[in-house]
Amino acid sequence: MQTRRRVFSGIQPSGNLHLGNYLGALKNWVGIQERYENYFCIVDLHAITVPQDPKILRSKIREVAAIYLASGIDPEKSVVFRQSRVPEHAELTWLLNCVARFGELSRMTQFKDKAQKGGAESASVGLYDYPVLMAADILLYNAHLVPVGEDQRQHLELTRTLARRFNHLYGETFVVPEAMILKTGARIMALDEPTAKMSKSSPVQGSYVAILDEPDTVRRKIRRAKTDSGSEITASPDKPAITNLLDIYGGLTGVPVPEIEKQYRSKGYGDLKKDLAEVVVEGLSPIRDRTRELLDNPRELDEILEAGAERAREVARSTLHEAWTRMGLD
Ligand code: AMP
Ligand code: TRP
Repeated sequence: MQTRRRVFSGIQPSGNLHLGNYLGALKNWVGIQERYENYFCIVDLHAITVPQDPKILRSKIREVAAIYLASGIDPEKSVVFRQSRVPEHAELTWLLNCVARFGELSRMTQFKDKAQKGGAESASVGLYDYPVLMAADILLYNAHLVPVGEDQRQHLELTRTLARRFNHLYGETFVVPEAMILKTGARIMALDEPTAKMSKSSPVQGSYVAILDEPDTVRRKIRRAKTDSGSEITASPDKPAITNLLDIYGGLTGVPVPEIEKQYRSKGYGDLKKDLAEVVVEGLSPIRDRTRELLDNPRELDEILEAGAERAREVARSTLHEAWTRMGLD
């Protein structure tokens, strides 16, 4: 019998994991893992919706696993695994593909943005279908809660729509999940362009602080971060750059943003940046060091991932069988 409510979330093993991933997702996962039954996935099938170099992908998968553990995800308390090692994710995607509508996928803003960059005509069908694979991830585990950053809200809404539609067409099968989005840190912006979100796929290194950046790199990136006109340190819509720096500060220290504003009332942007750089270095250094240690022992990492996949498969298989039965495929 399922006693604790389930949580599912995932990060793609592509590009460099950054402060946005940490504050919007990982830190939140660690904070709630005692309370729920957790499934934290490395969504490698999502990563290949855009071209990946196989050699780099292989090493990124391990790197993301190591960052999960180094951030405080405990494989005794949470199931940590790779999406591609549980074939039910791809299989349920097909069933849900036949429930999802062309029109609703065409309205997904992330697809529109990404497809626009490379030209919609040459975007992969996988990129278009990405939200359905994400829905399958979540519904396979009948997760109640999905801790993600703000950018995933629309995908979560689609997941809820597909769960409800399936239940309506074929009878109660899936839990309709809820997004769990934090107030601070759910949308960390790029350091060089505070109106765009901090993104793993950005070609500009200075736009993000990677979780694995060395302290001096962190300091340089924060020092060079864009600021707003004026000199007052306040979070407001006309000060997107300073608001973002305050959000990062608050997210890492747990100090509410109004408190930080008070602390810096008679100080300048330079003071804030200097202190923030140390806050970030202090927050990320233990994670970086622990990640490196874990990566020195890849066999142990692989074993943790394999054991996680086995536990995940058990739950996934039973949900997939139920969906088959409901649809008349049993
Ligand atoms: P991705 O990098 O797209 O694989 O995202 C992994 C997780 O990090 C998701 O929960 C995202 O919502 C979250 N995330 C990604 N970028 C940001 C950001 N700039 N601010 C806050 N959360 C983010
Ligand atoms: N699409 C998410 C992102 O890019 C990653 C993801 C895939 C995910 N499957 C998921 C997040 C299931 C939460 C739940 O951020």
